[in-house]
Amino acid sequence: AAGGLVALAFAGCGIVAPGPVDTTGDTDFDRPLAIPPLADSSVDADGTRVFALDAQAGTTEFEPGVESETWGFNGSLLGPTLVADRGERVRVEVTNSLEEPTTVHWHGMHLPAEMDGGPHQMVAPDAAWSPEWEIDQPAATLWYHPHPHGETESHVAMGLAGMFLLHDEQERALGLPADYGVDDVPVIVQDSGFSAAGAREDAQRGYAGGLGDELVVNGTRRPHLEVADELVRLRLLNASTARSYAFAWGDGRPIELIATDGGLLEASVPLEHVRLSPGERAEVLVRMAPGERVMLQSRMTPEIAGLEPAVAAMNGGSDSFDVLELRAADELRPAASVPSTLTEIQDFDPAEVVTTRHFELGDSFEINGDAMDMGRVDETVTVDTLERWVVENPNAVPHSFHVHDVQFRVASVDGEAPPPELAGWKDTIFTEPETEYELLMRFDDYADADTPYMYHCHLLWHEDQGMMGQFAVVEPGQRATMTEGTHHEH
Ligand code: C2O
Ligand code: CU
Repeated sequence: AAGGLVALAFAGCGIVAPGPVDTTGDTDFDRPLAIPPLADSSVDADGTRVFALDAQAGTTEFEPGVESETWGFNGSLLGPTLVADRGERVRVEVTNSLEEPTTVHWHGMHLPAEMDGGPHQMVAPDAAWSPEWEIDQPAATLWYHPHPHGETESHVAMGLAGMFLLHDEQERALGLPADYGVDDVPVIVQDSGFSAAGAREDAQRGYAGGLGDELVVNGTRRPHLEVADELVRLRLLNASTARSYAFAWGDGRPIELIATDGGLLEASVPLEHVRLSPGERAEVLVRMAPGERVMLQSRMTPEIAGLEPAVAAMNGGSDSFDVLELRAADELRPAASVPSTLTEIQDFDPAEVVTTRHFELGDSFEINGDAMDMGRVDETVTVDTLERWVVENPNAVPHSFHVHDVQFRVASVDGEAPPPELAGWKDTIFTEPETEYELLMRFDDYADADTPYMYHCHLLWHEDQGMMGQFAVVEPGQRATMTEGTHHEH
């Protein structure tokens, strides 16, 4: 089953693969980390919180004096951070000032399919789109990015991505660091899709897609963050199109993981590293000593990547990077202690599973043998039921499996209990080669037979090539409107 993608791993789409990258210890991290601004919002008469996002073209100097043409929301790169509370109704007034259609997808959000911002909610140039929904899920680090079918890799690589943070009362009561940009810091990690001369260009292409050999964090190359607090919360987002990371501290201290994609873990877990494939998030805590400096690194190894060393060498599976240096002030504000219980996660009862579905990830961008078809609904789910999705990766290379609308639980990995970093709410998982994942998810509400949600590989090149399928959530006995062979124009 290893055929196509492994061949690609070596063919590399015509760009000569330079082999593993190791830039750790090479450079001074003397640039202050950019912090995406908080998005302005207003509350209208009926209590809805209203944001505005405009997708636009601009230029960015990643290196002084070298201009790159980039895209951003409300600016020339990335986008502002949206923040909302559980229970709030929100509306985002999206406009598109680009010269081509795009979409804005709310990754990780539970919301009606029409508001999801997937490939069926295209926003034409100069058009507007105003999705509105109620925030009905726990505090979490979510994000937003374009999702136009076939163009997602390039739109994200151009710079369109931002964070969407959710809070709730229970999370606020924990007293975790929550001062945005000060002790609660967004860390959007990407491998730059721009060459040293400023052109949009991948340093190499392998099975996963385009890889850059320099990182940008919140759009800043080689950044540091001055911290004045003893305890700092980093919200790590892998917003890269293809590259996976294994985040670890340069001095070997454990990574204190407190939250995964969909919210807090029951308790913080110390890990050697936290592996994030494209689309995944992790919230981590780090305790600083006065005056110290510590480097957040990514140290990916073939073992962590689940790759044969020869394949890993050319595909980002054995690269090491310095990511972000934390520089503590000589005097630090003391932090409250972290409660030993962060939340309670109710396990799904497998006995309540109504439907079990199988998803086999193919080796040439298909799932269950089919490439994405906008006019075909692949799976029809009955609203208010618990489902088991068995995702099998029989390939020699990893993928990244993402499901829209829900947060799922990983019930097992190859029949074993999941590791701690997969023990909480997830919407995207790194799917290792020759491994099977059993996921449990409940589709609580928002039945809509006319509009599908997506599931797909979050390696964006794979997604663009068709490694994506559609599911509709319907009332009992209903059929999804779009059926095989029916093609809708949008
Ligand atoms: Cu992050 Cu379907 O996407
Ligand atoms: Cu894939």
